[in-house]
Amino acid sequence: MEKYYCTTAIDYVNGAPHIGHAYEKILTDVINRHYSQRADLAFMLTGTDEHGIKIQKTSAANGMTPKELCDMNAQKFKDAWKALDINYTRFIRTTDVQHECVVQNIFKKLVDKGDIYKHSYTGLYCSGCECFLNEKDLTEDGLCPDHLKKPEVVEEENYFFKLTKYKDAIIKHIKTNPDFIVPAFRANEVLNQLEDIQDISVSRAKSNVSWGVGVLDDSEQVIYVWIDALSNYITAIGYDIDNQTDEFKKLWPVDVHVIGKDILKFHSIYWIAILMALELPLPKHIFAHGWITIDETKMSKSLGNVVSPTSVLENFNLEYPDAFRYYMASAAPCGKDGNYSDDDFKEKVNAHLANSMGNLLNRTLSMLVKYFDGEVRPEFKKDSPLFASSLETIKAVKHHFDYFEIQEAAQKIMELVDSANKYVTDNAPWTLAKEGKMEECGTVLATVLEVMCIISSLIYPYCPNIAESMAKQLSYDITTKLDNITCDNIKSGKLISKEDIKPVFLRVDSEFADKSKK
Ligand code: MSP
Repeated sequence: MEKYYCTTAIDYVNGAPHIGHAYEKILTDVINRHYSQRADLAFMLTGTDEHGIKIQKTSAANGMTPKELCDMNAQKFKDAWKALDINYTRFIRTTDVQHECVVQNIFKKLVDKGDIYKHSYTGLYCSGCECFLNEKDLTEDGLCPDHLKKPEVVEEENYFFKLTKYKDAIIKHIKTNPDFIVPAFRANEVLNQLEDIQDISVSRAKSNVSWGVGVLDDSEQVIYVWIDALSNYITAIGYDIDNQTDEFKKLWPVDVHVIGKDILKFHSIYWIAILMALELPLPKHIFAHGWITIDETKMSKSLGNVVSPTSVLENFNLEYPDAFRYYMASAAPCGKDGNYSDDDFKEKVNAHLANSMGNLLNRTLSMLVKYFDGEVRPEFKKDSPLFASSLETIKAVKHHFDYFEIQEAAQKIMELVDSANKYVTDNAPWTLAKEGKMEECGTVLATVLEVMCIISSLIYPYCPNIAESMAKQLSYDITTKLDNITCDNIKSGKLISKEDIKPVFLRVDSEFADKSKK
């Protein structure tokens, strides 16, 4: 595989990042790190969406200029992603000058092509969604169903994009590419939305919304946030209407846009139509993940249950974000909603990462030191049914990632950990040592260590620090590509000394967590 290009949604900067934003960035980072083990180049784009009425109003309410608010909050997103070891390749801000210029050029190209036209309009605008809503989409009380707020009646002369021109082509594309929208059950929702699709407003009057990218040749209008925001996926990698960088040529089309289910319509209808109008190839996949609730309750400022991702690291006194990453990445089956709770977090990461995986490595290395002074002897045989299932697990994990089944892939890895634990219990190397069956005992230990190398590679996308610590103790090269992994990583000779054995993950200390919360 030559390249893998994945993107996240870009977050609004009218507030600080929360655990829902973090969920998406972790999922995407896990996907990107997995493909870095398969492709020559893995590229992850993330960033912030900084224009629109919401930012304009929030900044005014805080006595700041919009740019000041954007600068302050964009930094909070960058800091949070650093704390979570989100290894993005590029971070785009829609206020980047280069992005703004290309967005203006894109808009002009579509005007020149006749795909954008001016039209007087009265509509219902929800600033939460930053879009116009249809009457039939509102609740019985006339509220936006997502934000439970009454949309504003807006009467403006705006530019409109001829979405209807692309309707049939989009329907055809979705129907002929069953893995275009993931999970597949969401494709039907999109097809239903396409039934009564209208042309869409793509600009706002500057007199109502001043914080936006201006329309070239029309000082009265600013480009409506979604055209501005969606274009980030191409402007960030060097697209311009008649000048495309080598990087763009190499990376586009994108392999996957990772987004939340609430913004699927914008990505699978509006964005696809824009790309068709620009005559660009379409994304290979759009993966719509579910939403994260807190203790089974929707997060909201009014309920006061908004959880910041870094507060979880602080509350549990975690040195590395691995446990949180693992928990979030495996919080929900592909595309379904998931939940975060402190108790479940503690229970799951202690069971999987400390008791099953970390402990297995620790006790195997300790036995190697105790019985063989840390040395792998040439007479240890290394053939076991466990090797076959390890290689099968690599295949299964790759398959799950190809379908964005990130929780399911993690389950496969943990099944391999369980099999290795069972192999140790069944073969009881401590009994073999007591009975003087040293070659057999060594064979069991060497087999488990060999499998631990494979496990470290597989767990790396979720838990990069733990994986590196495992690999270090196994003298294993964690950068080995998945297709090059063999069952011959542990060489004969001294592997480790007692003082170099380190627990890779310490159990989350519940007492400490509860204390620091008070
Ligand atoms: N700015 C737009 C996206 C433009 S992409 C070209 C936006 N921003 S957002 O800040 O509201 O949301 C950013 C992402 O976070 C979206 O994919 C959204 O679905 C996701 N999430 C926001 N809250 C969430 C949860 N509670 N759970 C999981 N993801 C959620 O939409």
